[in-house]
Amino acid sequence: MSTLAVVGSQWGDEGKGKIIDYLAKKADMVVRGQGGSNAGHTVVIGNRKYALHLIPSGVMNEQTVNIIGNGVVFDAEGFFDETAALEKDGIKTDRIFVSDRAHLVFPYHKLLDELYEKALGEKDIGTTRKGIGPAYMDKIARSGLRVCDMLDEAAFREKLAAQIDDKNRILEKLFGAPPVNKEEIIANSLDCAKRLRPRIRDTGVMVHDAIRSGKKVLFEGAQGSMLDIDLGTYPYVTSSHPISGGFTTGAGVGAGAIQDVIGITKAYTTRVGKGPFVTELDNEIGKCIRERGLEYGATTGRPRRCGWFDGVVVRYSARINGTTGLALMLLDVLGEFDELKLCHGYAYKGETISEFPASLDTVAACTPLYLTLPGWKCDITGCRDFDALPDAARGYVKAVEEITGVPVKIVSVGPDREQTIIREAVF
Ligand code: GDP
Ligand code: IMO
Ligand code: MG
Repeated sequence: MSTLAVVGSQWGDEGKGKIIDYLAKKADMVVRGQGGSNAGHTVVIGNRKYALHLIPSGVMNEQTVNIIGNGVVFDAEGFFDETAALEKDGIKTDRIFVSDRAHLVFPYHKLLDELYEKALGEKDIGTTRKGIGPAYMDKIARSGLRVCDMLDEAAFREKLAAQIDDKNRILEKLFGAPPVNKEEIIANSLDCAKRLRPRIRDTGVMVHDAIRSGKKVLFEGAQGSMLDIDLGTYPYVTSSHPISGGFTTGAGVGAGAIQDVIGITKAYTTRVGKGPFVTELDNEIGKCIRERGLEYGATTGRPRRCGWFDGVVVRYSARINGTTGLALMLLDVLGEFDELKLCHGYAYKGETISEFPASLDTVAACTPLYLTLPGWKCDITGCRDFDALPDAARGYVKAVEEITGVPVKIVSVGPDREQTIIREAVF
């Protein structure tokens, strides 16, 4: 396949960074199409661990061109912090390009993210506070600034000044908060604009040309399908489209440009932030999964909520993404338990539901229906071949396939590149 979308099947943090980095050794181009620095994609190489936020996870591979597409909300200061950290470690960042159509995130977006969350009190979303919602609000309201605006200094200064005045009125009148410093934000943004100039491109043309000339292009999803603004657990979602369809608008390619979709799927379920979670384990088992899987946010450090595998979620996610294969991640983490549970449906008012409901009240009233399987109770991190896995682990993988209706093409048994079992080539 020459184009492949890699998307999160659950609520994010499924291991997309690891798989993108792994597949990128064969990729000519890696493209992000949505989200922003709310993403935290971990790449482990030997004893080094990198958390990438805005920068595509293909960056560790010298030959790969990395694109930050038009659908991303771009925090220029955060971007340069990330490139500086990578360069310090000897990783080249000169092959990263940014779309001239991407919208910009400014400090006032982050401040407003925080204030909107605080105003919600108990009903807060649990955002990453990276300014994502407020930046997409400006985009949809048609008042946002884009990367291309940075190319004309005088016009950029004027547009940004007007935006800051506007936001200061909101800060003062709505929240009683002090205004942001206009001159400081403008000066920093102009400095970023100068530094960004060599990386600004019409990236849609680059992606199109790469695909047309038969190059291998990976589309890197951020967040997860259940956080999709339309199809996720609204309002406990992010403000973009983390599903495969998000790449059409977010990278500027036609619907037919994506040949295959791999759903990155944890062997269990996690969620960071608020919102419904039918298979959540608020007990010792959940705690054990958190400690074994090191389930703490790569962006915010928050402990992730943990639970059993939710087949209703992954089946739903496979449908809305057109998923052609799963990568089952962190299977090694489950090696502690005598028995394992997989949810294949929900019980709701005496009936069985197999599709994820729209209403969160309905979701809250659902209880999981489980299939119980024996555990393997051993360390599988050294396995490199599907047949080398214990019977019970293979049985677990097959149960995931049966419940979701999607073949598991990759099994991951550890965070390192090497700890990967390919059952069927995906790219
Ligand atoms: P992403 O946001 O989807 O890229 O995922 P994160 O990086 O936020 O979280 C995934 C975590 O699981 C990271 O700490 C990875 O290093 C780690 N990880 C990925 N695959 C495996 C695996 O198969 N086993 C274990 N134990 N850890 C893994
Ligand atoms: P990666 O790409 C997990 C969650 C936040 C919150 C909700 C909205 O690493 O998988 P936002 O800051 O986007 O407005 O927050 O979405 N969230 C993520 N959860 N992984 C992510 O990214 C996430 N990005 C946002 O915790 O619940
Ligand atoms: Mg993450």
